[in-house]
Amino acid sequence: MNRPPPSSDTLSRLTNVVGERYAIRDLAAMDGYMREWRGIWHGVSPLVVRPANTDEVSRVLAIAHETNTAIVPQGGNTGLVGAQIPHETNTEVVLSLDRMTRIIAVDASDNTITVEAGAILRSMQDAADAADRLFPLSLASEGSCRIGGNLSSNAGGLNVIAYGNTRELCLGLEVVLADGRVWNGLKHLRKDNTGYDLRNIFIGAEGTLGIITGAVMKLFPKPRVQETAFIAIASPQAAVDLLSLARELSGNRVVAFEIMPQFAMDITVKHMGARNPLATPSPWYVLSELADPVRGTFLRILETAMERGWVSDATVAQSAAQRNELWAIRELMPESQTHEGASIKHDIAVPVSRIPAFFTEADAVIRRMMPDARIMGYGHLGDGNIHYNITQPLGMEKQAFLSQWDAINDAVYAVVISLGGSISAEHGIGRLKRKYMPFIKSPVELHMMRGLKRMLDPKGILNPGKLLPE
Ligand code: MLT
Ligand code: ZN
Repeated sequence: MNRPPPSSDTLSRLTNVVGERYAIRDLAAMDGYMREWRGIWHGVSPLVVRPANTDEVSRVLAIAHETNTAIVPQGGNTGLVGAQIPHETNTEVVLSLDRMTRIIAVDASDNTITVEAGAILRSMQDAADAADRLFPLSLASEGSCRIGGNLSSNAGGLNVIAYGNTRELCLGLEVVLADGRVWNGLKHLRKDNTGYDLRNIFIGAEGTLGIITGAVMKLFPKPRVQETAFIAIASPQAAVDLLSLARELSGNRVVAFEIMPQFAMDITVKHMGARNPLATPSPWYVLSELADPVRGTFLRILETAMERGWVSDATVAQSAAQRNELWAIRELMPESQTHEGASIKHDIAVPVSRIPAFFTEADAVIRRMMPDARIMGYGHLGDGNIHYNITQPLGMEKQAFLSQWDAINDAVYAVVISLGGSISAEHGIGRLKRKYMPFIKSPVELHMMRGLKRMLDPKGILNPGKLLPE
């Protein structure tokens, strides 16, 4: 971390690799690469390089390795833990994948899509759709996030319950190593038991072990029938029970199962122009979808759930437009929080059965610390993953609220750990959660992680100061 700034000779050599036009030195022009949307980090860099292809990435890294220059890889800059933003030191060069956006091939018979790492997620979904296939990774930032970033953070999103997270969707990778060598692991195989699984080392590594430049990802048949329901539900326990019931009665066809509290609904209606599709308010809502069920399955599930007192009201989408409207409520939710002042976010996971205990215990702790805090715990209940976000109390000074950041984190994480959970389910570690690593990873795990880092990046030039603790 304490390296000197790159010399002007190094900066010129790096510039020459990509060409003047794609090397940004001007502060105003590089601003978009220095900030992220939450506004927590604002980096300062001497240079942003935007290579056109893997060969240029390789040449940039060879120079960086030789000159001991730190490199921060960046995809769509939508990450939530600061992994993609350089430090404020003016010593780290940003390498953006934003020109490497090609969809190289869609193979509907092997069910694969091969892309460059800068491909925008939505363009992959569209390319799959055009071939009558589904690329199921789906998340709020899909219009601008890039697959290299999704892989590097092992992103989750709305369909993990059925299709897995980004790691599970990946068949092959191309990675440029810290010294510029290229590993071509762009395999299309479903089975390959030939020793260590190198691909998985780079997924979720947040650019600390190598720079992902290409990927082969899985495709799936497109569902022919979707049943999407928006449901007023009594409690998180009722939601967990409803999930089991829905799985049983549908023959395991649940492809999404999201929970949200009344507060989240209220602010999404208030600020984002969403409409509550249900007439009476409810403390909790569930948005769930079945793919290719026997028609009418969701109605049968809801009838049973109502008889059992779990569900008070619900609507099942009758058209694609209605389905989109229901999904928009959920997708607009993260942004709605920004209109209510500061929020202290958590991306936690516990076993699904422990979600109700998590809410009970975490709410009690927060209420003791800050009785007027507005708790917005919502998200991927089907994956045991809740975005447990604490929004500042009405009338409280923003700075006074933010001064409680560490105390609130510590309190929530203590509950998560006592329930056998994780403090990062799908957003990663980055800068935000790095200091917690010694508490959540055993010495044996940290030893193995550090060993991998030393072997693959002996000079520590790849995304320093992220993920691994000091
Ligand atoms: C979501 O599921 O909405 C995002 O992962 C949460 C976020 O943006 O904090
Ligand atoms: Zn999420």
